[in-house]
Amino acid sequence: MNIHASVPVGVLGASGYVGQELLRLLAGHPGASIAFATSESGAGERCGSIELVRIEDAPLARAEIVLSALPHGVSARHVRQARGLGRRAVDLSADFRLSPDAVYGLTEVTRPHVAAADLVANPGCYPTAALLALLPLARAGLIDQAREVVIDAASGVTGAGRTLKRDLLFGEVAEDFRAYAAGNEHRHLPELKATLARESGFTGDLVFTPHLLPIKRGILETIHVPLTRDIDRGTAEGIYQTVYANEPCVAVLHGTLPSLKDVVYRNRVAIGVATVANVRLPRLTVIAAIDNLVKGAAGQAIQNMNVMLGLPETAGLAC
Ligand SMILES: NC(=O)c1ccc[n+]([C@@H]2O[C@H](COP(=O)([O-])OP(=O)(O)OC[C@H]3O[C@@H](n4cnc5c(N)ncnc54)[C@H](OP(=O)(O)O)[C@@H]3O)[C@@H](O)[C@H]2O)c1
Repeated sequence: MNIHASVPVGVLGASGYVGQELLRLLAGHPGASIAFATSESGAGERCGSIELVRIEDAPLARAEIVLSALPHGVSARHVRQARGLGRRAVDLSADFRLSPDAVYGLTEVTRPHVAAADLVANPGCYPTAALLALLPLARAGLIDQAREVVIDAASGVTGAGRTLKRDLLFGEVAEDFRAYAAGNEHRHLPELKATLARESGFTGDLVFTPHLLPIKRGILETIHVPLTRDIDRGTAEGIYQTVYANEPCVAVLHGTLPSLKDVVYRNRVAIGVATVANVRLPRLTVIAAIDNLVKGAAGQAIQNMNVMLGLPETAGLAC
């Protein structure tokens, strides 16, 4: 495809945090233009050069591809409507992530399927970081499936969306730090388990606890991995380096650990490892960081869109 031809892209849910990020990225995309953008509360308002429209008025047929940043439970109906008109789609909600009707769009892992897909389910933000951190070790048979993998993850407040919620007011979150959804029942867990099993055969236990960071954006995950055998830091880094050598959106760190400033506003996951002393059985600590709104949502959706359209994979993205 000619990068100079502009592909018309429709954005559903353009007034939300993810939708706004999609508009920001599409505005700087060399091969895409915004065909329409929807908002219920902001219909009629302008967002840059785009006038927001109600979803029922969205001219779906004008888009070659539709990106949906609607809430889960709402998105599927509208994505199906676009598909019914023959439009390809990337759904950023959870509605198709466990569905056989869509290709799971963890680009680095499922790229060939994404290229051929008419409907891509963009992964969740926490799963994106955890899966890119765990899959190389799982595929190498290095994770001891008799012991739990523990994922302690912290996200900035944009991860919860833009709808007003009392416990997300500045006065509630500022200068505080807390866990939520403790008890291993977060809705990202089935997505994590299913993808690990499908892509690596790993079927061991995961214990996932998210936390709320009093910042706007960014996710940092500390992943405690039980190993089948001892490996030193250089060996572990070498595994990631080999797997991700040609991946523009994965940064494997050497001798250091990632922090949010490495990833915020970038379509990138940064991964670093530390060996674990003073334990009886071998372990590795893996730290993964992403921007929840970019590699965790809008950026990865654009990355998938680029792959689907045959555009350069990182067009419009800063990795
Ligand atoms: N936030 C993240 O970090 C993140 C990361 C990965 C995936 N996701 C997923 O991405 C999606 C969007 O997340 P978000 O954080 O951007 O949410 P959000 O800030 O709450 O935005 C939701 C958007 O959907 C629209 N909307 C809500 N209910 C609607 C309805 N019944 N009909 C039509 N439009 C409706 C809203 O429009 P109005 O408010 O203008 O009416 C808004 O534009 C969700 O499915 C979420 O799970 C979010």
